[in-house]
Amino acid sequence: MLNQEVVKLLNEQINKEFYSAYLYMDMANYYADQSLNGFENWFFIQMQEERDHALLFRQYLLNNSESVILTVISAPDKKYQNYRDPLVLALEHEVFVTTSINTIYETAYKNKDFRTMQFLDWFIEEQGEEEKNADDNIKKFDLFAGDPKGLYLLDNELKARVYAAPSLVL
Ligand code: FEO
Repeated sequence: MLNQEVVKLLNEQINKEFYSAYLYMDMANYYADQSLNGFENWFFIQMQEERDHALLFRQYLLNNSESVILTVISAPDKKYQNYRDPLVLALEHEVFVTTSINTIYETAYKNKDFRTMQFLDWFIEEQGEEEKNADDNIKKFDLFAGDPKGLYLLDNELKARVYAAPSLVL
């Protein structure tokens, strides 16, 4: 059996991952409204990845005979003033998620829940990648998007991102 304090946090993480998906869909919608379809594509795929993360937490709980408890997902309430705003918010959000994953890991460690620590290893690594990708987007925007042609080329680059299913299979 898993530690119940850990189970509670794992259930809460399902909500956070679905909220992340909701937030990134909101950003994709914003860019779609602005006809920046490469940025839209990048965030739409990000939304799919977050949904996958939520489903991995769900499956892990089920694989361990624990109940999955779904709770209300808040609506994203951010208003974007410019094309850069969602990129900054995305990085801030990933740092928040990293902290959340770290808290679960710490709780699992304290309670000698070594199985959950092993499961979370994939997410620890994933969060490193997520933060790096979000930071890269801001840096590329600042370097290249200062004029319409640069923005057009960056949008085309982001259009090339393709969805890949998570490497973790449960
Ligand atoms: Fe599921 Fe972007 O962390």
